[in-house]
This record gives sequence, C-alpha cells and structure tokens, in this order.
Amino acid sequence: MKIAVYPGSFDPITNGHIDLIQRALLIFDRIVVAIADNVEKEREYLFTMEEREDMVKETLKNMERVEVMRFKGLLADLVKKLGACSILRGLRAVSDFEYEFQMALMNRKLAPEAETFFLMPSEHYVYLSSSLVKDIARFNGNICEFVPKVVERELKKKFGFA
Ligand code: PNS
Repeated sequence: MKIAVYPGSFDPITNGHIDLIQRALLIFDRIVVAIADNVEKEREYLFTMEEREDMVKETLKNMERVEVMRFKGLLADLVKKLGACSILRGLRAVSDFEYEFQMALMNRKLAPEAETFFLMPSEHYVYLSSSLVKDIARFNGNICEFVPKVVERELKKKFGFA
C-alpha cells in the first residue's frame, strides 16, 4: 500500500490544500494529512491546534482514503512510524522552491525510505496561501473562493465579523 504523508501547518486549510489532496489520491492509496503540533510555533499561528484540526477534519470528512492526524516532533519519525513511501508537498512558485528543496533533502537524510513528492496545484490556486487568506479575512475581504465554508466561518469569527 502506497502511503503519502501530507504535512503542514494548515493555519487554516485552503482550497489549494484540497486540490493537492485530490491530485495525490490519483497516485497514492492512502493520504495521511499530518498537522504540525508545534507548541513553540503556537504563537505564530492564528488558530489553535484544536481549531486547525477541527477545520481540516470537517473539510475532509467525506474523502475516502484520507486520514487526519496531528504530529509532534520530526516529520521523518512520523514517516517511519506510518511506513509511508512519500512526503507530499505543494509547489506553487519558484519562491517556494528553496525552502522546499532544503526540507526535502534533509528529510531524505533523516528518512531515506521516503521520497518527497511535489505536486503543483491547479493554476487557480498558485497564488493562494493560508497567510494571504488570513490577511484578506482580517479586513473582511471576500475569501469564499479560496477556503471551505467552515474555514470562512471560523475566520469571520476570529476577526469579529460574525
Ligand atoms: O505548512 P508549513 O508551515 O509549510 O509546514 C511545515 C512543516 C510542518 C511541514 C515543517 O515545519 C515540519 O516538517 N515540521 C516538523 C519538524 C521537522 O521535521 N523539522 C525538520 C524538517 S526537515
């Protein structure tokens, strides 16, 4: 069974993430969406671990062969524990490349049994990021094209527009 781990902060999950998962399902048997539970980064996140996890679970609840979990510590250790053959990451633009390249090579060093697998999202989402969505939502801009309904609702609540 080909298992891919899709790690990220998912602060919050966007339609770009969903697009990537749908593409990966054509290639892998099982996708494990792994939400980073970094206490030391908690201050940088807009949403708490619980909020991020709830939104991801609600969004992906009807997707077969997709599991959601949180993880602490090294991604490489999770990959080993799950027996995954791939780490899934999205590449939107050249600006993503340097960080992703470093991370992929380091993860290969730490977990040589898994290859990082890059997928490009639909061209509709190449400019989309969780950070931009948060920025737009902060000023009550329209984000309905970019995020699932549950995320739109939670962002409005977070910024006091609901
Ligand atoms: O969505 P993000 O913020 O780009 O995801 C980054 C993430 C969570 C994939 C990365 O920070 C990570 O893997 N963290 C776990 C700790 C770890 O393994 N660090 C070494 C990476 S080479």
